[in-house]
Amino acid sequence: MLIDAYARRFSYLRLSITETCNFRCSYCLPDGNTCDSRVGELSIAEIKRLVTAFAQLGTRKVRITGGEPSLRKDLTEIIATCKAVPGIEKVALTTNGYRLLRDAKAWQAAGLDAINVSIDSLDADNFHLITGQDKLAEILAGVAYAQALGIAQVKINTVLLKQHNAAELGDFLNFVKSQPIALRFIELMRTGDNASYYQRQHLSGSLIQNQLLQQGWQLKTKAKTDGPALEYSHPDYQGNIGLIMPYSKDFCADCNRLRVSSLGQLYLCLFTDSYQDLRAFLHTDDTAALQRFLQQAVQGKAYSHQLQREHSGSTRHLAQIGG
Ligand code: GTP
Ligand code: 5AD
Ligand code: SF4
Repeated sequence: MLIDAYARRFSYLRLSITETCNFRCSYCLPDGNTCDSRVGELSIAEIKRLVTAFAQLGTRKVRITGGEPSLRKDLTEIIATCKAVPGIEKVALTTNGYRLLRDAKAWQAAGLDAINVSIDSLDADNFHLITGQDKLAEILAGVAYAQALGIAQVKINTVLLKQHNAAELGDFLNFVKSQPIALRFIELMRTGDNASYYQRQHLSGSLIQNQLLQQGWQLKTKAKTDGPALEYSHPDYQGNIGLIMPYSKDFCADCNRLRVSSLGQLYLCLFTDSYQDLRAFLHTDDTAALQRFLQQAVQGKAYSHQLQREHSGSTRHLAQIGG
């Protein structure tokens, strides 16, 4: 088992498989920054060894992230590889939705259990402005398609942006009125390269929380292992609204996840710049040495990222670590 000094158990691996992205979300890649290196991405064989070692230490869920994971031509094979590892019960994907219409069926056949899709605005022009891509209609159709296929969990992620989408709350609520989908608002996190953007756009999730409570939304009970989102339901709405509030609520005490970047680097927290390179362990099928290393490494995990105290984030941009 992977257990740290604060008795937290890590059963959830967030595995980034590429840093590249075909979108240019203004909060993620501000000021025209790019992140386009494909050099050194983990191979299928390396991913298999990595996930096997984690699974033998109690990992039950793998979420594949990026960059945009669907830019890798072997994504379907990666899903199948993760799902085939003994012990892995759930394989999930976080995507910008660009390839949903084309590939969701193949992903499902490969064993994908859950998809989170980033949609920061339901207004086509606004969406284009935020992401640099004029693809809202296609992505919404992709979400509907994934649901129609019966993929058990399809969620939408919306980063709260003061000037770009805060006024759209009514539209977002309408969206979940007649469809059983979870839409989660995420507080904009400050990263190493978006400080001025953060100053202009950050909005506290508690403002949305208050509006939801005033409108009769009720907090659902959740298990410790359910992740950082607080979920709200309403009798008149088929879907749920979630809030991911790293600044308003310290969810680190229940942290159940570790991250590995597309270069095979272990990050103990989203908000740290330090990492440990796992690559050297991935060239042999004997996973014992990697397991010993991981068990030792998690002892160094900090209790909290302290975002709420310092209102800062030191991590570079999230595309490098997969959010
Ligand atoms: P599930 O619980 O598996 O549905 O996933 P998730 O909501 O954790 O994953 P997703 O990839 O959809 O991420 C949603 C948002 O939550 C992103 O902005 C992530 O950066 C953020 N997030 C996920 N885990 C953490 C965490 O440990 N700390 C912080 N601060 N943010 C996180
Ligand atoms: N703050 C909050 N969420 C972010 N994401 C990317 N960058 C940030 C940030 N700075 C979100 C994406 C995606 C998820 C993986 O992380 O929109 O939904
Ligand atoms: Fe790409 Fe996601 Fe970053 Fe947007 S938030 S640029 S979709 S990695």
